[in-house]
Amino acid sequence: MATVICRKIIMFVQDKFLWGVASAAYQVEGGYQADGKGRSNWDAYTNDYQVTKAFIDKQHTGNVAINFYERSQYLRDMALMKQLGVNAYRFSITWSRILPNGTGEVNSQGMAYYNQLIDDLLANDIEPVITNFHWDLPYKLQERGGWSHSDSVHWYVEYTNVLFTNYGDRVKKFITFNEPFIYLFFIELLAHNAIAKKANPYAISNETYGKQAEAVHHLLLASAIATQNYYQLNLGGVIGITLSFTPTIPLDANNIKDVQAATVFDGLHNRWFLDAIYKGKYPDDIVKLHQKYNPAFQVSAKDMQLIAAHKPDFIGVNFYAPAYIKADASAPYGAEWFSTNPDEVKMFNGPVRPEHLYQLLVWIKNEYGNPTIYITENGAGFGAADEQLNGNIVKDPLRTDYIKRHIDSALQAKRDGVDLRGYFLWSFCDNFEWLFGYDKRFGIVYVDFDSQQRTPKQSFYAYQQIINESPGE
Ligand code: BGC
Repeated sequence: MATVICRKIIMFVQDKFLWGVASAAYQVEGGYQADGKGRSNWDAYTNDYQVTKAFIDKQHTGNVAINFYERSQYLRDMALMKQLGVNAYRFSITWSRILPNGTGEVNSQGMAYYNQLIDDLLANDIEPVITNFHWDLPYKLQERGGWSHSDSVHWYVEYTNVLFTNYGDRVKKFITFNEPFIYLFFIELLAHNAIAKKANPYAISNETYGKQAEAVHHLLLASAIATQNYYQLNLGGVIGITLSFTPTIPLDANNIKDVQAATVFDGLHNRWFLDAIYKGKYPDDIVKLHQKYNPAFQVSAKDMQLIAAHKPDFIGVNFYAPAYIKADASAPYGAEWFSTNPDEVKMFNGPVRPEHLYQLLVWIKNEYGNPTIYITENGAGFGAADEQLNGNIVKDPLRTDYIKRHIDSALQAKRDGVDLRGYFLWSFCDNFEWLFGYDKRFGIVYVDFDSQQRTPKQSFYAYQQIINESPGE
């Protein structure tokens, strides 16, 4: 067994295009109290505070999710992944399974779960790609202030050292964080509004954004130090960071205020992270705004050097849609974000615009020195309108079309010189969509959430065909 696994790992380290699917622990695992797991922020948000009620008027939790914690279930899912033809699976680790209190004592049963999962993936010729942190924080750490606390850097470094030293022999691709912007400036803030029972759970103040600048800085520092540690361990793999990208479009291109608001949003969401990593500097326009609303936000040159000195090996690009931006004084930093436009096909995360994926990839290449890129998420949630379940057939024509056109765009960018090494579809199975619970389906495999029955959708077969036809990409 050991030699077979070694051979497979060597195979994965060699460069080949990765065709994968992606998920995140809280969205799929369930097993929320299993085998010594500690509580996480999301266990509290969904059970104690019922945050989904503020957004979908129903209480949904990830307590069971799609039951991926149970081995017999995930082995069936893996068999479907094999049928699909993917050679990689991106998943995240539940921090509070590994360290129930966030720091300190390691939970051997939690460790064992991922050890087994990794071995099972390798035995199925599927490369495990680990996201260390995809938004579920041990509740003990959340109570101490979460990422706003400067110690969060040390908490994360302690946790990731456990992952690297235990799984790094077989896992050759780690991702430090998933989407710091969406996590800290959107999901967390909205969850906290729901907890505080705000009349409008979407309303966010300028001061709140300013405060989050400190948290996001801690997170980037943590990412850089973990990257440095990973290299010191000499494990022979690579490490990256996954960022969300939302190209901006002024709602009215002839209105200078909309154009300026679009630049602000672009700075906050897209330029902030890449500028720090590749230029060693946060964008001046956004630093000024953060300091206007939070004068305490100051960044030392030493911190910026550290972030730039320990660059990731690759950037994980998560792309769903561009955003239309309108100047609006009541929105944070004056930029109101519209995820839909009347003349577009409506999708949960925005309008369907595959050409923006192409433009985004080329922009990163030209602006930031052609870094290695994996598309770590791309997918579509169209809701009930697109899921025509009829016996064993689920037709999802909008998602099918979305996937084909986005993969075309990505591969065109690759042909035009972007160093693109892989594509991970979001998501394999329908799952728990954070504040919106189970109401938004993103899977290419339909899940009956009561029976846990899986049914591949039309988009599953379309992706299968793409993988089959592009083996050398
Ligand atoms: C997140 C996923 C989420 C997906 C669809 C991304 O922002 O990383 O966790 O399910 O978008 O909304």
